Amino acid sequence: MAKISFKTLKNKAQKDINLAKDLKELDEIFRKYLGEKGELRQILHSLEDLPQIKRKETGKLANQIKKEIEETLKKKKSNIQNLISNIQKQEWVDITIPGKKPVLGHLHPLTQVKREIEEIFQSMGFSVVEGPDVENEWYNFDALNIPKDHPARDMWDTLWLKDKGAKLLLRAHTSPVQIHYMEKNQPPLRIIVPGSVFRHEATDARHEFQLYQIEGLMVDKEISVAHLKAILTEFFKRFFGKNTAFRLDPDFFPFTEPSFNVSVTCVICGGKGCNLCKKTGWLEMAGAGMVHPNVLKNSGLNPKEWRGWAFGFGLERLAMMKYKIDDIRLFRSGDLRFLNQF
Ligand code: PHE
Repeated sequence: MAKISFKTLKNKAQKDINLAKDLKELDEIFRKYLGEKGELRQILHSLEDLPQIKRKETGKLANQIKKEIEETLKKKKSNIQNLISNIQKQEWVDITIPGKKPVLGHLHPLTQVKREIEEIFQSMGFSVVEGPDVENEWYNFDALNIPKDHPARDMWDTLWLKDKGAKLLLRAHTSPVQIHYMEKNQPPLRIIVPGSVFRHEATDARHEFQLYQIEGLMVDKEISVAHLKAILTEFFKRFFGKNTAFRLDPDFFPFTEPSFNVSVTCVICGGKGCNLCKKTGWLEMAGAGMVHPNVLKNSGLNPKEWRGWAFGFGLERLAMMKYKIDDIRLFRSGDLRFLNQF
């Protein structure tokens, strides 16, 4: 009787052990069969009344069964443990390895320079204003005192759009925005106008067919060239980081009277004369002058009441001076060896 019970018990236990999925289940199986109140104990209790010799024999048997069940439990336990440690090994992540850095781009040098210039002028009370790239003849020429038959039209080799009737063009300078702005805003005015301009010309180290300009315009009651010089002095000081010498030479623009060109000491040669400055020691940076009365009139302002100055900087020129770049074509070359230096 006892023998059958032991055998059944062992089989049952082994079946349970085989089906066990984790260490917790194995624990339960141990308690169920071999624990204090386990089934093996219960069978042993029920045999208490057996005669002495029988009991000895049964005890031996019970011990053996116990050992066998323990053995099976042990094996299964180490199987499960191996499985767990394998999974842990596979899923192990080294959280101390440095992460992959995403490749970050950066702002184009011209954008950086543009923003820096905007900041300098904003701190002097100028607003940053933009205008359209496509203009008609009125804004690009007529309103700026450049009539149809005026030879000054030759100064800008204009890119015309094909649209027949409308006679539209890609603006050759940012000066048309002076008109747009004065039409809509009453003085006192202080603006700068960064933007693209387009010229139909051959490219070389100093010329591009598309470039950026920064127009400046200040209109108020008693404005004179002294204000222009003061603003330029401050701008050059802040932009080039020192007291950069500059000079105004007489020039001609139909929309300013008197007109100047603004030159700074060549930063490449320090004024001694090099290829970039054509051995003069000076580099032309901007056109400037006092706003012509006709321009004020064309924008709806009374020239007897208001006066102003305007300038037009080449942004590329400013960047070339600041970073000692000797070829304007590098900016749009897309050459990362150049761009990554900024
Ligand atoms: N628009 C002129 C140019 O492109 C520059 C300029 C601007 C000159 C304003 C005088 C005043 O050459």
